[in-house]
Amino acid sequence: PAVSLIGVPTDIGAGTRGASMGPEALRVAGIVPALERFGIEVRDCGNLVGPANPQRPPLHGFRHLEEVTTWQQVIHDAVFAELQAERVPVILGGDHSLAIGSISAVSRHCRTHARKLRVLWLDAHADFNTAGITPSGNLHGMPVSCLCGYGPAQLTGLSGDVPALHPDELFEIGIRSVDPGEQRLVHDVGIEVFDMRSIDELGMREVMQLALSGMDADTHLHVSLDVDFLDAEIAPGVGTTVRGGPTYREAQLCMEMIADTGRLASLDVVELNPALDVRNQTAELAVDLVESLFGKSTLMRRPHVLYGT
Ligand code: ARG
Ligand code: MN
Ligand code: MN
Ligand code: MN
Repeated sequence: PAVSLIGVPTDIGAGTRGASMGPEALRVAGIVPALERFGIEVRDCGNLVGPANPQRPPLHGFRHLEEVTTWQQVIHDAVFAELQAERVPVILGGDHSLAIGSISAVSRHCRTHARKLRVLWLDAHADFNTAGITPSGNLHGMPVSCLCGYGPAQLTGLSGDVPALHPDELFEIGIRSVDPGEQRLVHDVGIEVFDMRSIDELGMREVMQLALSGMDADTHLHVSLDVDFLDAEIAPGVGTTVRGGPTYREAQLCMEMIADTGRLASLDVVELNPALDVRNQTAELAVDLVESLFGKSTLMRRPHVLYGT
């Protein structure tokens, strides 16, 4: 594939500042040569430009709603343009609110080309809050609910169709922190969540087989990788660490099984916070995992395998 890197240097959706420096830390960690090593043509589109962080308190349940909205329009347009040019956009975040823009673009693209959509949300958090139930007002805790149609019209309608994402197109993996009201909503909407307990009980292999099952040659697979998915011991460079996440080995297996499908068509790498990192180790780990997502393997590659079709 041909990859386009799109930097989204913002932290307006987060409660802790610093994720705005994420795109540059991923470049410093060598994301371009890491992909080029596999013969992938990489174009670094540089960073998108949007509103600065006004550092205001929440208003009616949202912090920075207008600024986040402006960012999402910019992100949507940039990601959609790369998809239409038959390229694989890799969005370098930036806080996780950016997935409202990126996945809205993916949804529009899939609708335009009659492709099926599958989204894997790799995260410690469900990111399914709404203005009425959020404990923080931070929009990085609300992208999935907005994409599924629960949120302000200016965010839910970005793809041109509401909802941009149907719950049956989505699998959340690695979840271990869900707020009380959010728990109820996730249950009522019927989001398929593989939490850490299911990874403990079934193992990462079986969880991924389930999450990747039923895809076919027409499926567009989008991965939204929140770096706080990873255990905090190996990934300290995030603002919202939660203990007890996937180990290095579990995370690698997760990425390799995604690569094996041959269907990865767009990717978000979000929430990396260099201000909290230790000698850029979390950025380097993220690049290491991205290499696996794009097919790095210890032995010669098997042909693509789709799981449990
Ligand atoms: N659930 C918490 C909130 O709504 C934390 C969300 C963290 N989200 C993230 N993308 N890191 O504030
Ligand atoms: Mn496409
Ligand atoms: Mn998270
Ligand atoms: Mn998240």
